[in-house]
Amino acid sequence: MNANTELPIGIFDSGIGGLTVVRQIHRVLPREDLVYLGDTARVPYGTKSPGTVVRFACEDTQFLIQQNVKAVVVACNTVSAWALPTLERKFSVPIFGVIVPGAQAALKRTRNRRIGIIGTAATVRSQAYSRAILTRDDTARVFARACPLLVPLVEEGWTNQKVTETILRAYLSPLMRRRIDTLVLGCTHYPLLKKAIRAVAGPHVALVDSAESCAQFLTERLQSTRLLNKTRRRAGVIQPFVTDEVERFHELTRRFLGAATEPAWKVDLSGVSASA
Ligand code: DGL
Repeated sequence: MNANTELPIGIFDSGIGGLTVVRQIHRVLPREDLVYLGDTARVPYGTKSPGTVVRFACEDTQFLIQQNVKAVVVACNTVSAWALPTLERKFSVPIFGVIVPGAQAALKRTRNRRIGIIGTAATVRSQAYSRAILTRDDTARVFARACPLLVPLVEEGWTNQKVTETILRAYLSPLMRRRIDTLVLGCTHYPLLKKAIRAVAGPHVALVDSAESCAQFLTERLQSTRLLNKTRRRAGVIQPFVTDEVERFHELTRRFLGAATEPAWKVDLSGVSASA
């Protein structure tokens, strides 16, 4: 048996949104212990420059490695889009992002090979999803749209309001006009908008939840590298760390995660040295 199997899986995000990824990982791997870092003091990353995103991502990863994790999952689409190659080069633990699993899932679902991507401005600017799709199928067409208003709407809990529908319609109409049949929800927060997106996109557009695809991909990889914890009988625990106050985190946990966690700890990343 691999000695590392008992160690927790580390997961990080710019804030609380990554709990949608934790939710999916906990659902498919209920016996794994999970350590979550939400960089709530510096969220959002989606409006920041690539250099800043890479620097924050290195510090977040370094922190998780100090917690002795067996693998790191980058729940944040913005970080996955900009920083994954740097993290893979710099750190020796296995690192998983959300872009490749989302791209693969989209290619499996599409029939007309016209795929829409929605995400933060930084994710869309990176063209990471387009590259991941087109290197696997160069006959696909990819149409991407930044949707910067959606993260604050979700954090306010405005997932069913009329204004949300209006904004979604404005963001999605140009993609619908391109006759996409598959839409990648390329941001941690968008799974909470699935119902509203479904109502606007209609029943014939397949919605790819990058959190779900990532959890599936992670399971397969941990299995093939013998890193899955197969011996534990108890349920895994989720230990959250945040860089800002824990109260707001606890408020939002219920909606994003829907499962109990250990009490969150506030941590300071300024002592974590991890230059890019
Ligand atoms: N977690 C980010 C993402 O998935 C959304 C929030 C942010 O902008 O930091 O891209």
